[in-house]
Amino acid sequence: MAGRPVLLLGGSGFIGRHVAARLVAQARHVIVPTRNRERARALLTLPTVQVFEADVHDDAQLASLVRSTDAVINLVGVLDGGRGSPWGPGFERAHVKLVSRIVEAARAAGVRRLLHVSALGVREGGEQTLPSMYLRSKAAGERIVREAADLQWTVFRPSVVFGLGDSLIERFMALQRWLPVIPLGRADARFQPVWVGDVARAIADSLDAQITVHRCYELAGPEVWSLRELIRFAGELSGFRRRVVGLPDSLGRLQAMLLEFAPAALRMSRDNFATLSIDNVAEGAIAPELRIEPTPLAAVAPSYLDEHELRLAEERRRAGH
Ligand SMILES: NC(=O)c1ccc[n+]([C@@H]2O[C@H](COP(=O)([O-])OP(=O)(O)OC[C@H]3O[C@@H](n4cnc5c(N)ncnc54)[C@H](OP(=O)(O)O)[C@@H]3O)[C@@H](O)[C@H]2O)c1
Repeated sequence: MAGRPVLLLGGSGFIGRHVAARLVAQARHVIVPTRNRERARALLTLPTVQVFEADVHDDAQLASLVRSTDAVINLVGVLDGGRGSPWGPGFERAHVKLVSRIVEAARAAGVRRLLHVSALGVREGGEQTLPSMYLRSKAAGERIVREAADLQWTVFRPSVVFGLGDSLIERFMALQRWLPVIPLGRADARFQPVWVGDVARAIADSLDAQITVHRCYELAGPEVWSLRELIRFAGELSGFRRRVVGLPDSLGRLQAMLLEFAPAALRMSRDNFATLSIDNVAEGAIAPELRIEPTPLAAVAPSYLDEHELRLAEERRRAGH
C-alpha cells in the first residue's frame, strides 16, 4: 500500500468510480474532489476514499489537494464545452487549462506521478487536425502532459467505455423503450468498446508500474462495432428492438443541432457528430505490460439485463401494478 493518498480528479464520474474502487481494493487512500458532493455519493461508502467539495480550477485549492498526495490521476472531461475556435470555453477550461494547472501544482508539490485520461483518436499534433473540439482540446491537454518530461506521466486513450452506469448501452436501451424508430446520423461510425473494469484496472495498476512511465496507451475492447450494431444490441437487451434508420450527413448534422436543446438523456451536439467522423478503433491490441485480456460486451450484458429488470420492477411497483 502506498503511503500517501492518490488524488483522483474526476473520481465521481462513471470511470472514476471504478478507478476509485480498484484503488481501494489495493488498500490505497484516495482523495476525490467534486463540485457537488451529492454527485459523488456512490463513493461515500468506499472505506478509504475521502470526498471533498472543491474548485479544482482554483490554484490555491488545487495546490492544497495535490500537496497531501503521492500521485495524481486526471479523469476530468466534458463532452459539451460550448462553441469556439479552436474549441469552446468549457473544453479550454476542463481539457487544457486544468491540465496546465495540474502539471504546475504537481511540480510545485514535488509530486512526480501523473496519470492522465485522454481519448482514443487523439494523436500528436491533433489539436490542429482532428475533426471535433472535443478531440482537438483533448490533444492539447495531452500535449501539456507529454511535454512535462520532469514528471512521470502516463496517458490512457480509451475507446468508448461500457459498463453499468454508462452513457452508451444503457442510454440506447432507454431510447428504444421510448422511441418507435431510431433515426441515426453516422450509423456506420466504428468503435471498439472497452469495459470500464478493464479501463479502471489499466489505470490503477499502472500507478506503481515503472514500465508505463512516459507511455501513451490505447485502451480498446476485443471487437469492432458500428454505431448501428451497438444500438441493435442494446435494443435486443431491452426487449424493444427498434428499426434504425440511417440519416445522410446533412440530416445527421441537423438532428445533432436540434438535440443540443434536448433533455440530457437524448442530448447530442454538432461537435459529438463531428467526433463520429473518424473511426474510434485502436491501432493494435492493448499493450502486454498492462496485462489486460479485454472483456467483450456480450460478457457484461447480463448485468445490464439485471439492472434493467430491477428498474422495470421498480417502475411497475410505483405505478401500483
Ligand atoms: N466514458 C467514455 O466512454 C470515455 C471514452 C473516452 C475517454 N473518456 C474520458 O475519460 C474521462 C472520464 O470520463 P467519464 O465517462 O467517467 O466522465 P463523467 O462520468 O462525465 O465524469 C466526469 C468527471 O469530471 C468532472 N468534471 C466534469 N467537468 C468538470 C469541470 N468543468 N471541472 C471540474 N471537474 C469536472 C466531474 O466531477 P464533478 O461533477 O463531481 O465535479 C466528473 O467526476 C474523461 O476525460 C473522458 O473524456 C471517456
